[in-house]
Amino acid sequence: MTFEQPFQIGDIVLDNRVVLAPMAGVCNSAFRLTVKEFGAGLVYAEMISDKGLIQRNQKTLDLLYIDERENPLSLQIFGGDKETLVEAAKYVDKNTNADIIDINMGCPVNKIIKCEAGAKWLLDPNKIYEMVSAVVDAVDKPVSVKMRIGWDEEHIFAVENAQAAERAGAAAIAMHGRTRVQMYEGKANWGVLKEVKKNISIPFIGNGDVETPQDAKRMIEETGVDAVMIGRAALGNPWMIYRTVQYLETGELKREPSVREKMDVCLLHFERLMQLKGESVAVREMRKHASWYLKGIRGNGIVRNAINQAETASELRALLNNVTEQLEDREHSQVEAI
Ligand SMILES: Cc1cc2nc3c(=O)[nH]c(=O)nc-3n(C[C@H](O)[C@H](O)[C@H](O)COP(=O)(O)O)c2cc1C
Repeated sequence: MTFEQPFQIGDIVLDNRVVLAPMAGVCNSAFRLTVKEFGAGLVYAEMISDKGLIQRNQKTLDLLYIDERENPLSLQIFGGDKETLVEAAKYVDKNTNADIIDINMGCPVNKIIKCEAGAKWLLDPNKIYEMVSAVVDAVDKPVSVKMRIGWDEEHIFAVENAQAAERAGAAAIAMHGRTRVQMYEGKANWGVLKEVKKNISIPFIGNGDVETPQDAKRMIEETGVDAVMIGRAALGNPWMIYRTVQYLETGELKREPSVREKMDVCLLHFERLMQLKGESVAVREMRKHASWYLKGIRGNGIVRNAINQAETASELRALLNNVTEQLEDREHSQVEAI
């Protein structure tokens, strides 16, 4: 797939058009760096509370850690109050090596909506304009917005909302093709993404239901988006990013990874999580990741159960290494050679 212009957000030039979605509880530096090494053009960090930043809550501040090998990176903040959102954005602007500041206008969960944050703003383009312009005026880094297409089927203000963000000075928009009410149910509406793309001129990143490299190509062809954002399909599967980049750039569909490759990367991800969070937290957090890495490997049930009981790093490492020995041969017969 060839594009006339390089993909750029503000003054940040990106190597390609494949973007890792922000995912709370997942997209910390350990995962992002691992995905970056598989070629992501841009990675988003998990959403960070404006209030947590302003109160200098240690757990919130820890979320700001970025390894320089991850750049370019977009750091996402959320909040429902203009003053605190601006304060938080200024803090990120001055105290982190993030390249882009992203504002969350898509989070559908009640806890966030009750604070007037996340998807709440989708009902009011004027509020979007007000919030985004206040942040843009306060910082030097480019500001982007990630939103859903609307609140519910009857309130899809995707075009108005995106235009409001553009008018307010946003350097890019990423849009998930679901409404707030849909949460993660049903299908992402790519038709609305196409409509938005036609009506704005800043870079537009399409998101929702890109599960394969072929989906990514289809999304670009059908909607005209400038880049694709991949979330759930990258969980335990950074190869999805690599395979998508390759497919978009060369048309070649690279093979799926072998069990050994999956476990090697899972172990690397785990060692990075250990560095970041220490043994006890890393072992617990790695359980969900391990189960994602193991997805699709035949006979993984027993190992998954054992991993869920693991308490120490050495137990977890042994289990993951054991997977390679026990399940590799079976899997190899299913994996086609390159
Ligand atoms: C576990 C999880 C956490 C998420 N956290 C965030 C978040 O912090 N900020 C955000 O804007 N979207 C978040 N999302 C939404 C994703 O960024 C993305 O919009 C959504 O998963 C649809 O893309 P997909 O079909 O490629 O998964 C999250 C999604 C998941 C599954």
